[in-house]
Amino acid sequence: MIVDIINKKRRGESLTHEELDKIFLGYLNDEVFDYQMSAFLMAVCLNGMNDDEIFYVTDLFINSGKVLDLSDIEGVKVDKHSTGGIGDKTTLIISPIVAALNVPVVKFSGRGLGITGGTIDKLSSIPGFNCNLSYDEIIKQAKEIGIVNCAVSDDLVPLDKKVYALRDVTGTSESIPLIAISIMSKKIAGGADKILLDVKYGDGALVKKKEEALELANLMANIGEKYKKEVRYVISDMNAPLGYAIGNRLEVMEALLLLRDNKANPNLKKLCVELASNMVSMAWNIPVDVASLQVEEVIESGKAYRKFLDLVKYQKGDIEKLKVEAKQKDIISTKSGIIKEIKALEFGKYSIELGSGRMDKDSDINPNVGIYLHCKVGDNIKQGDVLCNIFYDKKFPEFDIDKFFVIK
Ligand code: URA
Repeated sequence: MIVDIINKKRRGESLTHEELDKIFLGYLNDEVFDYQMSAFLMAVCLNGMNDDEIFYVTDLFINSGKVLDLSDIEGVKVDKHSTGGIGDKTTLIISPIVAALNVPVVKFSGRGLGITGGTIDKLSSIPGFNCNLSYDEIIKQAKEIGIVNCAVSDDLVPLDKKVYALRDVTGTSESIPLIAISIMSKKIAGGADKILLDVKYGDGALVKKKEEALELANLMANIGEKYKKEVRYVISDMNAPLGYAIGNRLEVMEALLLLRDNKANPNLKKLCVELASNMVSMAWNIPVDVASLQVEEVIESGKAYRKFLDLVKYQKGDIEKLKVEAKQKDIISTKSGIIKEIKALEFGKYSIELGSGRMDKDSDINPNVGIYLHCKVGDNIKQGDVLCNIFYDKKFPEFDIDKFFVIK
């Protein structure tokens, strides 16, 4: 009985393959109910899973849907995945950089849920942009322009879709084994040859401590090894928002500013160069520092920007029509000092209140709203300086500066 499996995990015991089949495949086939799966996932959050359970469940996830074959596309396909954060628009920036260096990029992205944004919502904020591509369209586009960025289709890891939506609303997202299974099953089913992971820690990330991020990264690398996929990871800080913009259109504009004018928040640029250089290094088996010179060159020369425009045009987006239509309010500093903290979690929650993300899986989002920061941690600011602009729609949500910034 399902309750025996739940009880066993609640007592911290390990489960057999047959029991794991029963609960996970039963859930996929609607034979296990949401309330039973929720209780089971909570037991996993509290008691974890051993390696055998993790590897077996990853396999169940992968085989719950289609596994893509990208071998028709020439070259080494390196995929990148971020564990999610506030203001994380790195995919928009690094995909065209890497593709401009003739490394094929076939990137499947997700929608945002909860406080972390999703690349699909950012791309969809470009008027006309089509995120839903068929397998044949993906292959054709990759062969023609070397870059594709689209939504994960319904037939790719359907078990993750169902479990992930439930985790999000049952307080069971923050489990290292469940995160590792969810991410790696999608990456392996997506058909990439090699995988780069951006594992974030901090206030605005799924895991709070650096050691937990390292544990998660190593677990994902071990799963990759089982499937003979080279996995590399970068551990990055998500205590402050990444870059200046939070909110879908604002983030696309920030990405364009970096690609077109090479102007960027230094932390954002540093992480993008690090990630793109690792992808190129993995594709060509060259040292990261050599790859990073080429990455800088395609930004500087505008090749990466032109690749981004190719991507947008091919997927029917109209970049000329991209503009933010919202009311705007400046937030002015009431004191002078050094910016010690910009609280990612608070900004993530506030951006949801503005309407730039969803609190449940079916809610609509407003692509125009968001926040544009005018400072970063370490900046010296004076009383009267603008700390950030708020782009809002109907009603301006209350903004208490001390909740968002620590200035000393
Ligand atoms: N991203 C995913 O795809 N899955 C998780 O569980 C967490 C982040």
